[in-house]
Amino acid sequence: MNKSIKKVVIANLKMNGSLSFYDDYLKGLKNGLHDIDNIDVGLCVPYPYLAQAQSILNGSNISWGSQNIAKFENGPYTGEVSATMLNDFGVQYVIVGHSERATAYCESNENIADKFNAIKKYNMTPVLCVGENLIEREAGIMEKVVASQIEAIIKCYGVEIFSDSIIAYEPIWAIGTDMAASPEQTNHMCSYIRKLINQDELNEVKNLKIVYGGSLNSENAVQLFGLKSVDGGLIGRAAINIEEFIKICQSAQTFET
Ligand code: 13P
Repeated sequence: MNKSIKKVVIANLKMNGSLSFYDDYLKGLKNGLHDIDNIDVGLCVPYPYLAQAQSILNGSNISWGSQNIAKFENGPYTGEVSATMLNDFGVQYVIVGHSERATAYCESNENIADKFNAIKKYNMTPVLCVGENLIEREAGIMEKVVASQIEAIIKCYGVEIFSDSIIAYEPIWAIGTDMAASPEQTNHMCSYIRKLINQDELNEVKNLKIVYGGSLNSENAVQLFGLKSVDGGLIGRAAINIEEFIKICQSAQTFET
């Protein structure tokens, strides 16, 4: 099992903030987390603030990242941002397949697979979001849904592409609802995902982290991070508040092995 790896805590700041917000936020976090070194922390900011994140966080123990990427390398793709552009700004983490994008912009699983490949090709860490909606959960087909999201990538690029990657189990019904998945539901799905990827038990995919996202906050973090199957978290609303985000990081630190 994958238990000697560091927990990872990633903030998805979504479409929030401003120049002055990020100035305070990035400096405050750098200061507030300066003595944390046994977990990995990443901040996925909107594209326009990547340069600011790079200039303030460079040399700190916090990495930064984006919330999307183009699947193409360059060319006539108005409004898109490529992997090499993200490389220019020192990006480490790239969120891909977030349900808010998949729903609003009709992203197919194949499109997400190509984006995942672009991230790996340029040595960044994909944070692949997978998860079922409420109807799918009530129908009991959450494993099938998550399997099809992951298998689309395996089919195009092989299972090895998941080495040095992060998969976030983010049930859609738990995002933005204050209704986090229970520890049992989280444990079940995160264990399922790990088994799905590591079907060849003798040849486990290296350094794959599986994290939970969806209404994670400082109150439920300890319980969720304490699960053996959970390597960390992807946090939306609770990450907007620095003190709250620091508390979540401190909870993860407790479980570092
Ligand atoms: P919330 O933490 O606001 O529910 O959002 C989770 C999320 O979508 C992280 O990617």
